Amino acid sequence: MKIQIVSTLQSEPEAIIYLFRQSENLSDQLDIFANAPFLKQDFKGEAKQVVTHYENGRKIYLIGLGKAPKEADFIKILRSFFFKQKRNLPDNIALELTTGGIENEWIEVIVNGCYLGDYDLDLYKTKKKEGATVFERDAKLQIVVAEEAIASAEQQVQKGEATAWTQIRIMDLMNAPSNKKSPQSLAEWAIESGEKYGYSVTVWDEKQCEKEGLQALLAVSFGSKNPPRFIQLEYKHPVATEKIGLVGKGVTFDTGGISLKQSTNMHYMKSDMGGAAAVLGTIEVAAKLKLPVHLIGIIPATENSIDGLATKPGDVIGSYSGKTIEVIDTDAEGRVILADALSYMVRNYTPDVIVDLATLTGSCVATLGYSAAGLFTNNEQLAQELYDCGQKTGEKLWRLPLWDDYKDDVTSDIADVKNFHGKPVAGAIVAAKFLEVFVEEHPHWAHLDIAGTAFGDSEFGTMKSATAYGVRLLLRWLQRG
Ligand code: BES
Ligand code: ZN
Ligand code: ZN
Repeated sequence: MKIQIVSTLQSEPEAIIYLFRQSENLSDQLDIFANAPFLKQDFKGEAKQVVTHYENGRKIYLIGLGKAPKEADFIKILRSFFFKQKRNLPDNIALELTTGGIENEWIEVIVNGCYLGDYDLDLYKTKKKEGATVFERDAKLQIVVAEEAIASAEQQVQKGEATAWTQIRIMDLMNAPSNKKSPQSLAEWAIESGEKYGYSVTVWDEKQCEKEGLQALLAVSFGSKNPPRFIQLEYKHPVATEKIGLVGKGVTFDTGGISLKQSTNMHYMKSDMGGAAAVLGTIEVAAKLKLPVHLIGIIPATENSIDGLATKPGDVIGSYSGKTIEVIDTDAEGRVILADALSYMVRNYTPDVIVDLATLTGSCVATLGYSAAGLFTNNEQLAQELYDCGQKTGEKLWRLPLWDDYKDDVTSDIADVKNFHGKPVAGAIVAAKFLEVFVEEHPHWAHLDIAGTAFGDSEFGTMKSATAYGVRLLLRWLQRG
């Protein structure tokens, strides 16, 4: 499906989609339709309301946006509409924004939502749904905007589309089961993306990890036949002045290790590389759009599995930083691999800012549910910037403390630190305190615990699936100021 920005319709569309807010103007806005009196009874512009009718041999869809739609609402509503209608929509479609008075600033997210509707979870189904979707067909979507908005709208279309295709690739990675992905396949994803969009990727295998002293990452990988990978990415635009370090937890499956998880929701642990996915997606889009930024990405990738050689509770392991770690619980593996990635980042790249993302704790899910990720930072300005971007994009964040009150919870009797305090309280905070040790007093660091937001409910399926959380948040933050 190709999008074309127009100020008047270029060819006769077979279907026209209108977007309307739930507002006092709605009744007047509906007067353009031949059957306005009936439509006014049926259509109130509530969020996600869709009314279909037929006029002059055309399909007409009225879509409600609710009272004060924000970015995330536009995306959700358009995504859901295209997802449900993609096999019914004809080849020549128009999206009318002027009738409902939809401002041009929303075009990027509208386009993003349309294209995200292309997503399907049915990768491994042998029998696909019947009929080609508008995305598969040579379809055309004319978006009608005011004449003076055409140039800026075209730029927004490009951004919305570029972001959507990467988000879809990221969702595929996240939704892939553990027998279809591995640390090595994450590395290959990065290499191919780097070659295609022009950024550099370095991958270390287990031997190189050993040589470089990434002992914490290695210790987590011992229980699996799939060896770990340490993936480093760098995208640099010539005008960029600030160096930004992004670190993402890349556990391709988390069984818990010897501290084995119970089985009820274990299948969701294929998504324990949500932090890695956010980092990969952000760097891919930044490179695709040639954003004026300098990004370093580090992804410690491993499986957390179980066999006779797996790290055991109570084991003391080394780390890249030189500090020793007592592994109280092998299921608290994310912080252990991030320890190596964070201190490697600080010592070797000296970034101005570091943001790490990780599906780190069930405790964060218990605290914030599925609506916001936990935000931990030692920097007030960074806290404000990230919080604001969360509010704007709808990929929300809520700050939790990093106070030294919790410091003793990571002190070990026999090693420098321990990876679990053994208490059913403040789990997300204690995990963040553990990471803080390995950031080595870098003054601009933020940790995002995305355990509750990386996987979520949506129209795509009956169970939770990937959300690509973090990609739009970070992209917005990179374009701040
Ligand atoms: N990957 C999990 C955290 C998680 C939980 C992600 C739910 C997504 C949804 C992490 O490695 C983990 O197992 N954390 C433990 C830590 C505990 C043993 C200290 C947890 O949160 O229960
Ligand atoms: Zn775990
Ligand atoms: Zn995990």
